[in-house]
Amino acid sequence: MKDTKKSVHGAWSSRFAFILAATGSAVGLGNIWKFPYITGENGGGAFVIVYLLCVLLIGVPIMIAETMLGRRTQRNPIETMELLTEEAGADKNWHYLGWMGIIAGMLILSYYSVIAGWSSAYILKAFTGSFFNADAAEIKGIFDDFIASPVQLVFWHSAFMLATMMIVVRGVNNGLEKAVQYLMPSLFVLMFLLVGYAMTTDSYYQGLHFMFTPDFSKLTSSAILTAMGHAFFTLSLGMGAIMVYGSYLPKNISIAKTTFLIAGADTVVALLAGIAIFPIVFANNLHPDSGPGLIFETLPIAFGAMTGGWLMGILFFVMLAIAALTSSISLIEPAVAWLVENKDFSREKACVWTGLATWLLGLGTVFSFNVWSNVKFFDRSIFQLLDYLTANLMLPVGGFCIAIFAGWIMKRQHSEQELNMPTEQSYQVWKVLISYVAPSAVFFVFLHVIGVL
Ligand code: PFF
Repeated sequence: MKDTKKSVHGAWSSRFAFILAATGSAVGLGNIWKFPYITGENGGGAFVIVYLLCVLLIGVPIMIAETMLGRRTQRNPIETMELLTEEAGADKNWHYLGWMGIIAGMLILSYYSVIAGWSSAYILKAFTGSFFNADAAEIKGIFDDFIASPVQLVFWHSAFMLATMMIVVRGVNNGLEKAVQYLMPSLFVLMFLLVGYAMTTDSYYQGLHFMFTPDFSKLTSSAILTAMGHAFFTLSLGMGAIMVYGSYLPKNISIAKTTFLIAGADTVVALLAGIAIFPIVFANNLHPDSGPGLIFETLPIAFGAMTGGWLMGILFFVMLAIAALTSSISLIEPAVAWLVENKDFSREKACVWTGLATWLLGLGTVFSFNVWSNVKFFDRSIFQLLDYLTANLMLPVGGFCIAIFAGWIMKRQHSEQELNMPTEQSYQVWKVLISYVAPSAVFFVFLHVIGVL
């Protein structure tokens, strides 16, 4: 496409670097912390099926589209939408999509960083042997005491935000690529080890049964919305994170193939997390619907009981914190890239301002677990409100718009050229999914939730 501006935009050094970074963005707290607890809250099997369908039919096509839009312009999301509307001769307002993404990213990061702070704090707890031989009640006590302390939560939230901004400030190649290189393989190994432990509990099959036997009577419309929202959240879709990562992707690389790899890895990690956690939940008479504390109240029991659990505990929380870090850098990258490329900010200055704003916002989430726990908006705490607003509303709306843009606004020859699929049929399948299936699925879920359907 025609390109008049001078670019200060980075580029991945290889296809592998992109895969690592995009997988790093996708795999995070969403897989290990959020997927198990929302599966627990929404009744298990049926929820998992809806989630998997959403990943396949909505998530994957939109991920292909989002990467493609970014790669076509090699610009940040706002500029990407501006340039592409110009190319397609479409309405200028599409660039608001880029704006919504930047805002959604910062809103998500504000609470994401607080939870990532919990994981960081748990590294220390594992290290000092807090879980040793502790029973379920003691482990719950440790967690309850921890989240009741605003000082501790603010400390860990601040430490995590600082770590995020220190990586982002170093830019694409130095910071982002290196951070993910070793993480992903180690994370897989550790997840398998935890599943191995879950197999030794008496409740292994009960856990599997809960996760994989659907009981559709438990499937409420809000569960369907949560499952769909989570498909966006877990694949980092609908807000420009994957668009900005796609924009750093060299032109000769097949977008569709890499997307399948990334979405596949992401799904496997989530399922492994569930398979590891639910047997421990049932073996200790805990409740699958105990909410955001679920992994912090279950896994330490396993670490406290098993041989080598001390080291496993440390490794697990280190990895969770790093997995969160590789996602959080992608949450803030769209905002930073825009300030650097369009507002002439230095990367350092852009990081300081976006980091500070996000940190401040995060205090709302911190206090929602203690001093402001009674503050409710529409029956939700600040944390729950931010999560609902972003994952269940903003990301699906963003994804819907991306689907409409890629399927209906962008010229066919442009998407065909950019995707460069191996066969005409595979392009056709994507085109049908992106133009019809994905947007109507999102639309019907929304109608269902507001009670029209
Ligand atoms: N995909 C991340 C996770 O599952 O933890 C969260 C996330 C990252 C959501 C980046 C959105 C995003 F743009």
